[in-house]
Amino acid sequence: MIPSNIFVGNLFLSDNIRHIEGSIVECGVWRGGMSAAMAEFLGPDRKYYLFDSFEGLPSAKEIDGENALAWQKNTSSPTYFDNCKAEIKYAEECMSMSKSKIYEIRKGWFSETLPAFPYNESIALLRLDGDWYESTMDCLKNLYPKVNKGGLIIIDDYYAWDGCCRAIHDFLSENNLCERIRESKHGVSYMIKK
Ligand SMILES: C[S@@+](CC[C@H](N)C(=O)[O-])C[C@H]1O[C@@H](n2cnc3c(N)ncnc32)[C@H](O)[C@@H]1O
Repeated sequence: MIPSNIFVGNLFLSDNIRHIEGSIVECGVWRGGMSAAMAEFLGPDRKYYLFDSFEGLPSAKEIDGENALAWQKNTSSPTYFDNCKAEIKYAEECMSMSKSKIYEIRKGWFSETLPAFPYNESIALLRLDGDWYESTMDCLKNLYPKVNKGGLIIIDDYYAWDGCCRAIHDFLSENNLCERIRESKHGVSYMIKK
């Protein structure tokens, strides 16, 4: 689903966290290609977590913006991908082909699965790809505190969807944070945790 320049851009960015301790986490994995590529690239000495409903996206709401509402109604569009629904077996297969053998794929809605992220584990790289406001906010509320100082938060949908962008700014503002939203030379949006 990811354009090749953005795919490569994600790997370029992830190269910067080799010195940061912690797991690699992707929220919104679809068929698992990006997670598996990061696992292949960053190697087997880390733990990888993949979170997804594997039931597609929740219904977009007004806060997600007109484009999101229109996108979800247009079920015959070539970018609809069955509402981004993919069976878990694709992610399992992808991860089994990567170098990493330490990974967990957690199926379910973020609001239910993320609070169970192990309390004693920290995160070096958090990749947010859940598209909508609530999905992004659930990820930030549950996992941002687990990201280590200097850790990387990749925001796949910052430019794509209003809901994601709103969630990022609301979260930063509500928590009195001043992390900058940056854009890599490949056009990938991200923040570095202060
Ligand atoms: C755009 S796709 C992810 C694409 C994937 N990262 C890739 O690189 O190919 C968005 C994914 O987020 C998942 N998702 C969105 N909101 C969710 C939520 N609240 N709980 C669980 N999964 C969610 C969907 O099931 C879907 O697989």
